[in-house]
Amino acid sequence: ASTLGAAAQQSGRYFGTAIAAGRLGDATYTSIAGREFNMVTAENEMKPDALQPQRGRFNFSSGDQIYNWATQRGMKVRGHTLAWHAQQPDWMRNLGGSSLRQAMIEHINGVMAHYRGKLAAWDVVNEAFEENGSRRQSNLQSTGNDWIEVAFRTARAADPSVKLCYNDYNIENWSYGKTQGVYNLIRDFKSRGVPIDCVGLQTHFTGGSSLPGNFQQTLSSFAALGVDVTLTEVDVTNSSTSQYAGLTQACINVPRCIGITVWGVRDSDSWRASENPLLFDRSGNKKAAYTSVLNVL
Ligand code: XIL
Repeated sequence: ASTLGAAAQQSGRYFGTAIAAGRLGDATYTSIAGREFNMVTAENEMKPDALQPQRGRFNFSSGDQIYNWATQRGMKVRGHTLAWHAQQPDWMRNLGGSSLRQAMIEHINGVMAHYRGKLAAWDVVNEAFEENGSRRQSNLQSTGNDWIEVAFRTARAADPSVKLCYNDYNIENWSYGKTQGVYNLIRDFKSRGVPIDCVGLQTHFTGGSSLPGNFQQTLSSFAALGVDVTLTEVDVTNSSTSQYAGLTQACINVPRCIGITVWGVRDSDSWRASENPLLFDRSGNKKAAYTSVLNVL
C-alpha cells in the first residue's frame, strides 16, 4: 500500500491524525491529510472549553467542521475528550465537589447526545493519574474517587454504540508507576463490570532512539484485560526513525492494538513544532520516519 491508512487497513487497523479546524483552508495540509489517513481526532475542537464555553450553551460548530470534513472523505472520527483537568471552560474550572460532578454528567450527556452513533470512540477521561500512579489532584478528583467510573457509566448510557476509552501519557513504560496505576484502574473496572472498551496511550516520545521499557508488554498487558489498545497522539522528538518503526511494530505485534494516530500532519502543525516530531516536514514532504512507519505496517 502507498499510504499510511491503506497500509494499516491491510491488517484491519487504522492510521489517524489530529486535525485542527483552523488549518482546513490550507490546501497542502488537507491534501496530505485526506490522502494518508483514515481516522481523525479533533486536536482541540471537541474538548470541554470548545464544546460548552458557557454553562448549558453547547457550541458544536468547530467540532462539526472537523467531523464533516473527515466523514465526507470516508474517514472515521475519535472523540477527544469528555472529562479532563485541562482545557475546561472558565465556568467549569471554578467548580468542585457535587456541583462539578453534576456539570461533568451534563457535559457528557450534552456532547454525546449530539454525536450519538457517529463516532468510533470517545476518550471519556483524559490524564487522571500522577506520574507515581496515584490519582491526579484536580477539581474532578475533588468530586470523589469514583468520578472516573461515573464518567464511563454516564457515557455508556448516553451512547451505547461508541467505544469508551481511557487516555493518558507516560503509560508506555511497563515498569512506570503511572502505567501501573492506569492498569489497576482498568483491571478494577473490568472485574466490576464498569463499562470500558479501550485504553489510549498518547505516545508523546521525547529523546533517545529506543522505546520506553517493555512498550509491547504494556500493550499486550492492557489488551489481556479485555480492552483494545490504541496509540492516540504519537509524536517523537526529531522523528527518530527507530522509535517510529518500533512503536509501529509493537502495535502490529499485538492483535488488540487497533490503530495509531499521529498528533498532527506536518512538523509545523505540531504542538511540539520546535522538536520536528511528525511524519511530514514543513513543506509537506514525507520524512524518513514516514517510510520507516510505512515499511512496518
Ligand atoms: C494539545 C494541543 O495539541 C494543543 O494545540 C493545545 O494547545 C493543548 O493541547 N495531551 C492531550 C492533547 O490529550 O489534547 C493535547 O493537545 C496534548 C497532550
